Amino acid sequence: QAALPEGYKLRALRRNDFDAGFLDCLRVLTTVGDISKEAWEERYDWIARQDGTYFIVVIEDTTSNPPRIVGTGALLAERKFIHNLGSVGHIEDIAVAKDQQGKKLGLRLIQALDYIAKQTGCYKTILDCSEANEGFYVKCGFRRAGLEMAHYH
Ligand code: ACO
Repeated sequence: QAALPEGYKLRALRRNDFDAGFLDCLRVLTTVGDISKEAWEERYDWIARQDGTYFIVVIEDTTSNPPRIVGTGALLAERKFIHNLGSVGHIEDIAVAKDQQGKKLGLRLIQALDYIAKQTGCYKTILDCSEANEGFYVKCGFRRAGLEMAHYH
């Protein structure tokens, strides 16, 4: 397992992380929008109620004052009927702050989420990514499998 830089901590997302840079971190990935604290708490609480299904982890730089979230990723454990009621882990929304990329934080996030997937009983972990990110996921131990299709609404 890759080590985190000194003073960096990997932990679960918390309800009071609204002001800690979590949404800014996600902005390196895609559009986030203007989310109020109230809306954030409502969504956080909904996710928390899906016990054992959603796992959102963050990497926090505690050497920064105040501490700042510099990386995040999510795992969704999907319960199935097939494969003897098997579960599949879906890795989603991996993002590392621009100025923190290249420090193995992304690798550490994937390792942590894949570990959670294994502990949750998932027989595989899958994800969708762009061609530009394929090399990163190959370094994380993933390989190309299948083809993504989408229907945007
Ligand atoms: N292509 C090829 N190799 C890469 C790439 C890439 N795009 N990005 C990183 N790598 C390599 C690194 O060089 C490193 O290799 P090494 O072990 O030989 O030194 C290895 O992969 C691990 O890299 P990290 O330092 O852990 O990568 P980083 O912390 O910068 O995170 C990430 C990579 C998450 C892709 C980051 O650049 C990022 O946040 N990008 C913008 C958002 C994004 O595209 N997220 C992924 C969307 S897909 C999804 O969420 C399922």
